[in-house]
Amino acid sequence: MMIPLVDHDASAALGRRIADRLRPGDVVALSGGLGAGKTTLARAIIAALGYADEVPSPSFAIIECYDPPALRLPLVHADFYRLESPAEVDELGLDDYREGAALLAEWPEHAGGFAHEPGCLSIRLEVAGNGRTAIVVPGDDWLERAPWT
Ligand SMILES: Nc1ncnc2c1ncn2[C@@H]1O[C@H](COP(=O)(O)OP(=O)(O)O)[C@@H](O)[C@H]1O
Ligand SMILES: [Mg+2]
Repeated sequence: MMIPLVDHDASAALGRRIADRLRPGDVVALSGGLGAGKTTLARAIIAALGYADEVPSPSFAIIECYDPPALRLPLVHADFYRLESPAEVDELGLDDYREGAALLAEWPEHAGGFAHEPGCLSIRLEVAGNGRTAIVVPGDDWLERAPWT
């Protein structure tokens, strides 16, 4: 599935459609190079879940956690860029953070990847002119939720 994200509004609209359909246990795996628009889409999802404050990029902290009532469901926003090996995911205690929460993962491949999980929505972002293109590959649990429509 290729979705053109010609500007920030288009990224925000995709973020809203994902947020409306997001459930605990899901992963939204956001891949693509530096500046591809991963944090922008993650922020759009978090805002559409009801979070009213500014969302920091987790590039330094690696993991940022959000809990109701500030947003609709427990959420973990992670940026695995700085991990040197997927084994470090265990040291972070990611599984504990994920309990009952949805996960937004930037640089998912640095954490070993999540595409084997049926609840994983894989989104690859690429620069396209002044905007971006999203290439979306849904896990089985996302097929009927179709956030690309
Ligand atoms: N759909 C879009 N159209 C145009 N610019 C965008 C879009 N999405 C993100 N950007 C811009 O791209 C830059 C990098 O975005 P960011 O989300 O921080 O990237 P990443 O987290 O992938 O490194 C920012 O300046 C942001 O405003
Ligand atoms: Mg980022």
